[in-house]
Amino acid sequence: MEKIVALCKRRGFIFQGSEIYGGITGFWDYGPLGVELKNNIKREWWKNMVYGRDDVVGLDAAIIMNPQVWEASGHTTAFSDPLVECKICHKRFRFDKHKERKSHLDSHVLKDEPESLPDDENAIWTEPKEFNLLVEAFLGVTEPKQKVYLRGEITQGVFVNFKNVVDSTRIKIPFGIAQIGKAFRNEITPGNFTFRSREFEQMELEFFINPEDEEGNKWFEYWKDERMKWYLSLGIREENLRFRKHETNELAHYAKMAEDIEYHSSFGWSEFEGIHHRGNWDLSQHKLTDTDDKGEEITPYVIETSGGVDRSMLFFLVDSYCEENDRVFLKLHPKLAPVKAAVFPLLANKPELVSVAKSIHAELKNSIDGFIAFDDRGNIGKRYFAQDEIGTPYCITVDFKSLEDKTVTVRDRDTTRQERVKIDSLSDYLKKGYK
Ligand code: GAP
Repeated sequence: MEKIVALCKRRGFIFQGSEIYGGITGFWDYGPLGVELKNNIKREWWKNMVYGRDDVVGLDAAIIMNPQVWEASGHTTAFSDPLVECKICHKRFRFDKHKERKSHLDSHVLKDEPESLPDDENAIWTEPKEFNLLVEAFLGVTEPKQKVYLRGEITQGVFVNFKNVVDSTRIKIPFGIAQIGKAFRNEITPGNFTFRSREFEQMELEFFINPEDEEGNKWFEYWKDERMKWYLSLGIREENLRFRKHETNELAHYAKMAEDIEYHSSFGWSEFEGIHHRGNWDLSQHKLTDTDDKGEEITPYVIETSGGVDRSMLFFLVDSYCEENDRVFLKLHPKLAPVKAAVFPLLANKPELVSVAKSIHAELKNSIDGFIAFDDRGNIGKRYFAQDEIGTPYCITVDFKSLEDKTVTVRDRDTTRQERVKIDSLSDYLKKGYK
């Protein structure tokens, strides 16, 4: 993880938010490469969940909603984590994060005189109190300003638009509404880099079904399977993924049943997507119904897939990080790679090579969907190294032979093998590799 954090900063994937003012805990900025990787993840998700299907449509709801939405959804009362405080240093922790509390306790054991620590280590903590995670904001020009909330999950924007979508499209249950957007939580202990932040992005599907059509939890199982297949199709190693079922006492207030997709990270198995059976909790709370194919009024059930863009990105980075001999490379799926290809003239001081390289660069920018880099600095080995480290799948070099036979070398990031490819067919060659 330390290597990933350093790489992210050095190469412009992720920066500490407001860094020049000392930062602000739980907020991150995505740099030039980070925004490309993040956009590629979101684009692949949208292609898979919306464009690839006939039963899902998209939505982009406002971040701030009428506060009554959050009262109806139960978030103002039940969207909370148990908070405890260390009686020695007054640092606050989530009661349910046992590992984090244990390592805090150990830090006191190391630092403090043993007599300042209680005999019973549990006595170091105050009684757990429920702490609401909604972030408040204030709107309006006259006092008192209206208290509103930054959305704690992007989901409620979908539910409050349920009727709008049904009435404005021809879609009928079973169908889904997909959305990607920012959510905000006043996390007690943001940490593990971007893993637990206070501002983050979610990509969610709310899939509405007739309650009679959920025998054997068939749609819940279907969506679990679909989501796992998606991560595998983008190259995350199978041995690093698993499902974990929520115990009844850890279910969110809206959930009848839930399973997380977890990644085997350096800080343990960690959730990065939840599949939730929300029953008819939300539509009932908002007093919304639909009609089934017999014309009868029903309150559909909802199966939700809720993934974190930031957490997915973090785990795509961690999972793809490779060290081989002297080489560091990110074995990112080409669909996700922030730079799709890099074009080099072998020597920067040979105008005939630079001119061909520039025209290839211009042509690829036109024909390839994604960022194409150009680099003529330093020796070719250093340029390869720089592209490997950010996961660029192909490096294209224009050399003297190119001037004679209109071919270039294409170097593969993972094998480092080089192949001569005709300039005319470069674009098709790359497109094949991105599949
Ligand atoms: N609508 C359901 C919902 O929000 P959740 O399990 O609370 O469910 C879904 O969140 C996903 O959002 C998580 O699996 C995670 O990827 C992401 N997420 C939640 N809290 C986060 C945080 N503090 N920082 C980064 N990502 C977070």
